[in-house]
Amino acid sequence: MSLLSIFKRKKVLSSIAYQIKPRKVKFDWQETPIDWIPNEPFASYFVNEINMILPAGEFWFCRLYNKVLHQIDDPKLKQDVQAFIRQEAMHAKAHSSANGEYLSVRNIDPARNLEVMNLLFNKLLADKPLGIAVPKALEKQWDLFRLGIIATVEHMTCVLGKYALENNYWEMLGADPEMVDLVKWHGAEEVEHRTVAFDLYRHLGGGYIARYYLSIAVIVGVLGLWVDGAANIMKQDPRFAHKKPHLLKPWIWLEWYSTAKRSKNKLIPNPIWLVAQQIDYLMPWYNPLHEANTEDAIRYLDQSPAAKRAELTGTHAAA
Ligand SMILES: [Fe+2]
Ligand SMILES: [Fe+2]
Repeated sequence: MSLLSIFKRKKVLSSIAYQIKPRKVKFDWQETPIDWIPNEPFASYFVNEINMILPAGEFWFCRLYNKVLHQIDDPKLKQDVQAFIRQEAMHAKAHSSANGEYLSVRNIDPARNLEVMNLLFNKLLADKPLGIAVPKALEKQWDLFRLGIIATVEHMTCVLGKYALENNYWEMLGADPEMVDLVKWHGAEEVEHRTVAFDLYRHLGGGYIARYYLSIAVIVGVLGLWVDGAANIMKQDPRFAHKKPHLLKPWIWLEWYSTAKRSKNKLIPNPIWLVAQQIDYLMPWYNPLHEANTEDAIRYLDQSPAAKRAELTGTHAAA
């Protein structure tokens, strides 16, 4: 073995042998109440906020992955990435359908929250941030930084996907089956494609140390956006308006913590638990394959009502 081969890093290839399957889904929001978890308005709003957080981010994943697709020289990883793009695009469409056909028609205006997400993903994190062209010499680093953000977010979506998939507490409380299916279908596909972003990030040169600062940025960003958005939709409801929910006021944070605590982490994930899940990602031996079980995800996806409905009707839309 030559000295050069010891120091030359082996290129990361796809770490899965299975094929990721993009699925169409069709949701019907006519019967879904605002309190989709009965008698739990806080938890219902808190989870509903993901409908506003996700679409702009997921379409941004798709655009960036399409941009770097030609740089992938492992055919299996390329296939994984293409399937990932199709899955994320469908997630974005499905959550958008909940904004347009469910929340908006029940007097919850998602516009301001969607604007915040559009500003972040379509302007700040765009190929040209705030319209300013990135110098040629830094272009690769800019792409790599953004690919690192996606890999880090995808660790969190895998954790939350596994959480949703294993949690049957919402069903026990008589939660709306359509919303439960949206969250579980999405969560299961996050588990199914959990290796792709991490493989791609490292395939294109992403390093280990960056995972530390990326984790801090992603934790602060995700928790901040989630609480800020949830506060904005809650204050539109007279039941919460008098609390004046706001990102920078303690009430919503304390309520998040206590709602999670009294339900033993089942109604909504505890914020401390969620942050602690990031530790795995920082371990040098981290491998997303070990973070969840593909068979559990496929078992759910094979019987997801929205996926079955789309199959039966041959639909091309998310709703
Ligand atoms: Fe997704
Ligand atoms: Fe994902």
